Amino acid sequence: MGQSKNTGNVLVIHGPNLNMLGKREPELYGNTTLDEINSELEKLGEKLGLSNHEGAIVDKIQESVALKKGIIINPAAYTHTSIAIRDALLLLDIPVIEVHLSNIYKRESFRQRSMISDVATAQIAGFGVKGYDMALEALAEMIQSG
Ligand code: DQA
Repeated sequence: MGQSKNTGNVLVIHGPNLNMLGKREPELYGNTTLDEINSELEKLGEKLGLSNHEGAIVDKIQESVALKKGIIINPAAYTHTSIAIRDALLLLDIPVIEVHLSNIYKRESFRQRSMISDVATAQIAGFGVKGYDMALEALAEMIQSG
């Protein structure tokens, strides 16, 4: 992450309950708080979105249609249920990286299905907070190579 990269205009969306990271099932999600994740990402200068609400997430995705060059999204529990978030992502013509802290494919069967993975450009799961840095690195490369 040391290099300077053109990572402007990237929207990062955190779904519900991710504001509780650090306190929430640390054996599964680690001890890093969302503030710590955000300040790590903010260092690279992108705009962050946080919402516990499905409709607000859809609004943020729609706003990004004209303004953004890429999206990193962890829809949290909405991953497994939200056709609304899926439909909003289908409006976009920019790379979308789906991130999960845990490896959802090693968990309960209801978590093994993502409503957005087939409309996302790529998915990163199971690397903990490192997954966000990996997503930003990959997105920066995609944006730069046009
Ligand atoms: C999660 C996985 C989801 O199943 C869960 O509801 C979350 C977090 C993850 O990052 O591993 O809230 O998206």
